Parts: sequence; C-alpha cells; structure tokens
Amino acid sequence: MTTKLELRNVTKTYGKTKVINDLSITIDAGEFFVVLGPSGTGKSTLLKIIVGIEQPDTGKVLIDGKDVTKLPPNRRNLAMVFQNYALYPNMTVYQNIAFPLKMHRIRNIPEKVRNIAEKLNIQDTLSKRVTQISGGQQQRVALARAIVRNPTLFLLDEPLSNLDARVRYSARGELKKLQQDLNQTFVFVTHDQKEAESLGDRVGVLHNGSFEQISTYNELYNDPRTPWIGDFVGDYPMNFIGKMGFRPEWVEVGRGNYEVEIDSSENVGGIYFIHGKTSSGDSLILKADRRYETGERMTFGITKFKEFDVPVPGQ
Ligand SMILES: Nc1ncnc2c1ncn2[C@@H]1O[C@H](COP(=O)(O)OP(=O)(O)OP(=O)(O)O)[C@@H](O)[C@H]1O
Ligand SMILES: [Mg+2]
Repeated sequence: MTTKLELRNVTKTYGKTKVINDLSITIDAGEFFVVLGPSGTGKSTLLKIIVGIEQPDTGKVLIDGKDVTKLPPNRRNLAMVFQNYALYPNMTVYQNIAFPLKMHRIRNIPEKVRNIAEKLNIQDTLSKRVTQISGGQQQRVALARAIVRNPTLFLLDEPLSNLDARVRYSARGELKKLQQDLNQTFVFVTHDQKEAESLGDRVGVLHNGSFEQISTYNELYNDPRTPWIGDFVGDYPMNFIGKMGFRPEWVEVGRGNYEVEIDSSENVGGIYFIHGKTSSGDSLILKADRRYETGERMTFGITKFKEFDVPVPGQ
C-alpha cells in the first residue's frame, strides 16, 4: 500500500508571522516529492503539520482522502526523520531502532531490527551507542528507526545536511534506491539544489508561505514561472536584462548585440563563469571557455531566454 497526501488551504502563523499561507498540494502515492526553499521559509513547519506535531490555524491534512488534521501523530502511520535526527543519545543503535516497535507493542522485535539494519548496512553498529558512530551511520539509524514500522508515508527533514560532500553524494543515491524498493511516498525537505535535482519526481519551491512553482527540477531551471524562481534555482542565478531572463550558458560568446565589462572570472573545473556588468548596469554571470581579465570587454549574443511579464527583482 502506498499513501496519497493532500494539504488543503493550510495556514500557520507564529506570533505575527504567517509562515504557511493558504498552501494546497496533492502528493501522489509513491511519489518522491521534494520541498525546496531557503532557510526560514517554513519547510520544517510544513512537515510538522503533516506529521501532526503542529496544528494548522486553518486548512486540512488528508491522508488517502481521510481528514487527519485533528489526529495525533501516532495515529497517522507516517514516519519522520528530523533535521537533527533526534536519536536517543543514551541508547544503543539497537535500542533506538527498536524503540518505536516497543511503543507499539509489536512482536518479533529482534528479527525486525536485524532485517532493517542489514538493509541499511549498519548491522555491525547495533550494540554501540549512537554517540559512538559516525554522522553517516547516525543518519542511517534515524532512517532505520523511521522505516522499521513499515509506514506508508515518509517525511524527511534535510536528513543529509550533516554529511560531508562525498558521503552525501552516495547517501543521495541510496535514498532514492530505498524509496524505489519500498515503493512508498516520500516528502523530502531540503535547501540543496543538487538534492532536489537528483531526488525529486517533482519539486515544490516554497516562497512566502506557499509553493511558487511545482514541477520537475528541469522545468524549474529552464522554465521558471517567476523571476524569483529563476534567481533562486540553479547553482548560479538567472541573468536578467529588462523582462528577459537567461541562464549563464544560454549565450554565444564572441559575437552578438550585447557587451559586458568584466569584474572577475571564476574557473569551475575548466569552465569559466564570467562576472560582468552591461553599460546600463545589469550584473551578469556568463559561461565562457576562457578566462577574461578584469576591465576587459566581452561581446555576446543571447541564444535562449525566458520572457517574464512581471517586474524582475532589483530592477
Ligand atoms: N515554534 C515556533 N515558534 C515561533 N516561531 C517559529 C516556531 N517554529 C518556527 N518558527 C519560525 O517560523 C519560520 C519558519 O521556520 P521553519 O523551521 O519552518 O523554517 P525552515 O524552512 O525549516 O528553515 P531551515 O531551512 O533553516 O531549517 C522561521 O521564521 C522560524 O523562526
Ligand atoms: Mg528546517
């Protein structure tokens, strides 16, 4: 069984701040849905509302069509991995994973713990305290504890953010595979572009309390709905001249109708990102195949662009 999740017109205010504002979304059964947004935009708040730790001021949470807005977390059959893992530091790995099973008086606990530990390759750490294992292992323990009860909906709050770049890269692949093996619905929160790109079937970008765009990462990058999305999505922000938005690589360098004066050149693995300004003062970042010196002028043409009908930020 997989689970479909719906939020209808959810609003949440802390003090005077409206953190979630009339947000609606339907997440399909078996989907890997990524919530992407800058720090402080309400991503964790949104997950807490879904899991039931926080109550929305208005609006509804529906799981497989059933209104669970007023149900406590333990009656929603979903699992949450918290931003800081929230493992019990005084317990062993085994005790941490077994904990939710004990709480629900489930039988065959040792066997279930062993199975899940093997699946996540932490079977050799079971007798250690969680303070004696690495960050990557802690992350697996948190996942194991979430998975062990066979939930049908997974809520993951930046579970990879404490890992170093290499481990993070492989953890991403493993997580995607795990979701496909389990064939369950995942809602994964991150502020990391690469995670959104590699994990999400769809990505919802949270801005001003609701989803400003929900689409594949590719679409966010190539066809942003608003200038804000164009600016936020991508390793480099979209460039803007007037209402025209274009990516660093959507140009032909060396000929065309535009010119920038170079501020600096940045070498990223043999590709150069050229930072410069047009004569009318637009700051641009353009991709080129060689270094340009500060003060030098570079001519370019725009080969592809997105035209916005709303004003561009900062112009
Ligand atoms: N319990 C609370 N009481 C008051 N304000 C809160 C509470 N929880 C969160 N906030 C505020 O709500 C806003 C959203 O917080 P939230 O933790 O959901 O953001 P986030 O997108 O998860 O950020 P990050 O990426 O840094 O984890 C922030 O401005 C935060 O200060
Ligand atoms: Mg958060």
